[in-house]
Amino acid sequence: MNRLRWGMIGGGEGSQIGPAHRLGAGLDGLFTFAAGALDHRADAGIAYGRSLGLGDRAYGSWQEMLAAEAARDDRVDLVTVATPNATHFEITRAFLEAGFHVLCEKPMTMSVEEGEIIVETARRTGRICAVNYGYSGYSLVRHMRAMVARGDLGRVRLVKADFAHGHHADAGDADNPRVRWRYDPAQAGVSAQFADCGIHALHMASFVTGQEVTKLSADIVSCIPSRTLEDDAMVDFRMDGGTVGRLWTSSIALGRQHGLAIEVFGETGGLRWSQEQPNQLYHMPLGGRLQVIERGEADLSPEADRTSRVTVGHAEGMPLAFANIYKDLAEAITATKEGRAIDPAADLYPRAEDGLRSMAAVAAVAESGRNDGAWRDARPPMFR
Ligand code: NAI
Repeated sequence: MNRLRWGMIGGGEGSQIGPAHRLGAGLDGLFTFAAGALDHRADAGIAYGRSLGLGDRAYGSWQEMLAAEAARDDRVDLVTVATPNATHFEITRAFLEAGFHVLCEKPMTMSVEEGEIIVETARRTGRICAVNYGYSGYSLVRHMRAMVARGDLGRVRLVKADFAHGHHADAGDADNPRVRWRYDPAQAGVSAQFADCGIHALHMASFVTGQEVTKLSADIVSCIPSRTLEDDAMVDFRMDGGTVGRLWTSSIALGRQHGLAIEVFGETGGLRWSQEQPNQLYHMPLGGRLQVIERGEADLSPEADRTSRVTVGHAEGMPLAFANIYKDLAEAITATKEGRAIDPAADLYPRAEDGLRSMAAVAAVAESGRNDGAWRDARPPMFR
């Protein structure tokens, strides 16, 4: 496979997510980091990009990068959008329209309408638009999906997903500008905690079960009363294969650190996995004994083997999960270039359609929450 060229927008010096993307894209030698508009301050973005070896392909703005890269024969093959949420739609749409493949950070857009436009644009232009539900890249998450798909649990009765942390629990911090915007509808949209973290958990419930969310009922609260948007939500949902779903997300759960976890309960077995202990998957077969499946062990599924990167017993973390999304994308882009079918084992990266489904769920959660938990259709209008 020839090396592909990769560019990033956002992810500047000191950003939270930029380093994980650079590690993930760089891990396999499939992408060369070739271009970037890394910071909202032009000078800082150019200086940081040059320090990372981008030379004259370190740009001062994404518009400048779009114009310059579109004119090059050796333009970047994939652009990652790792800027703040409200900018995702405009940047992703513009790069897709110009013929680039895009990996957009979550949430993909701020509204269902924008999400539908991104899906339509990706389909019309024939470009890949992926969304970074990067936790779906973990080896044991892929293994859970494979176990469910091959029937190890029988019919899945119940899925339970959490994403609860305590990093916004300090009421004295509520006016801190770095925290306050997240709970302000003018900047964050209709949802805070669910749109930020809950959608990761909901995506994982769909990814692992292979089912889509059809309807939901939400109880949303601002435990810190000065907040307009929710800092805690409990969401009940139903899936198109008949599975019942439960989801809890919170930002005031002191003592919880990252707090992404998933449990799947079927007729003949149960599975439990947590992002903070990603190397262990707990499997309880009906009538058997609780077993610990270790990442990297022999005889796991091909999907798990393909995405396991370090030897058994060694820690594997979020940048390596992101690397699996990039590995999938490298295969998808190369298959597109060569006009051949993608390797099915790589065809698991989250798509614009998943980003859109999340936005429909965000809208349904906000609407249900305002109506005392009334059940709402959680499907995007274009998929009904
Ligand atoms: P951050 O505030 O730490 O960094 C944002 C970066 O984008 C900064 O370097 C800033 O200068 C740059 N930037 C802002 N506007 C820009 C523009 N117009 N052009 C170029 N650069 C610009 O934000 P953080 O936490 O890194 O989040 C970025 C995105 O990643 C968010 O959408 C967030 O939801 C998402 N995220 C996703 C995670 C995941 O697991 N998939 C985890 C954490 C964040």
